[in-house]
Amino acid sequence: MSDISRLGVVGCGLMGSGIAEVAALRGLDVTVTESSAELAAAGRDRVIASLERGVRRGKLTETERDQALARLTFTHDLGELADRQFVIEAVAENRDVKLDLFRQLDKVIVDPEAVLATNTSSIPVVDLAVATGRSSHVVGLHFFNPVPVQKLVEVIPALTTSADTVTRARAVATELLGKEVVQAPDRSGFVVNALLVPYLLAAIRMVESGAARPEDIDRGMELGCAHPMGPLRLLDLIGLDTAQAVAESMYEEFKEPLYAAPPLLQRMVAAGHLGRKSGRGFYPYDS
Ligand code: 3HC
Repeated sequence: MSDISRLGVVGCGLMGSGIAEVAALRGLDVTVTESSAELAAAGRDRVIASLERGVRRGKLTETERDQALARLTFTHDLGELADRQFVIEAVAENRDVKLDLFRQLDKVIVDPEAVLATNTSSIPVVDLAVATGRSSHVVGLHFFNPVPVQKLVEVIPALTTSADTVTRARAVATELLGKEVVQAPDRSGFVVNALLVPYLLAAIRMVESGAARPEDIDRGMELGCAHPMGPLRLLDLIGLDTAQAVAESMYEEFKEPLYAAPPLLQRMVAAGHLGRKSGRGFYPYDS
């Protein structure tokens, strides 16, 4: 059984808020940090909105919602993570930002046995591990969006990760967070994105070339292959900026044209058409 009860989550965007929500609902004491007080408040609002949705849909009682909220602390002070036994980093997919954060976490977290996990989608876990003085305690834990719904977590040991850290990370994902795990290699894209991203980019190229409309591509994959959502709707859910960052990391690693971000994706990100979170992507949304 896992001995971990104090979890830290760094970053409270789409993924971080989902991880924090699931952890609090399952009884963990969770401290969530963001880079500013405004972002910490926005993260808290995101978690509350999701818990409220759970209550509205009859999945949670008001008491369960309140108990989960009472287990959550939101702060912009990284120092408040000092007593955490397990920290999951879920900040934007930016290598320099993550490297800097891992250097800071290494200094802030007191327990030398604490595990530092990254939710990166594509940045080598070993790069983040060696930025710390505890590379054997750093591991990848890659969640899927929406975190409260998707069952999978990829566990990614770096070359430096100890067997004990892998065991503890698997236990956190399964016993504490109630997810299923697969072990994935520390190569950009791991298992799922290595297969998913070329497919998503191919759908963008199909739109870009005028070969098919987003509605037809999505309907085709939803009804033809029983995917819960077609590739363009899924891109809007993931966030086009995230999809671009993942594709770029994978392209940088493999120089494989299938991973190259198409110009349309780059232009949409430049225009701020990031998908659901910005109110517009391949489709319009009520923001
Ligand atoms: N939080 C909590 N629950 C949610 C939720 C959320 N954000 N979104 C949906 N749900 C729940 C609903 O409450 C509902 O539960 P119920 O059936 O028990 O009432 C169930 O999920 C279905 O939701 P909806 O009826 O609102 O909508 P859909 O049936 O269209 O499902 C979806 C929405 C769950 C997003 C589904 O379309 C889906 O699974 N899509 C594919 C998502 C996917 O592939 N994710 C992986 C992305 S890749 C990734 O994250 C990796 C990264 O590195 C890029």
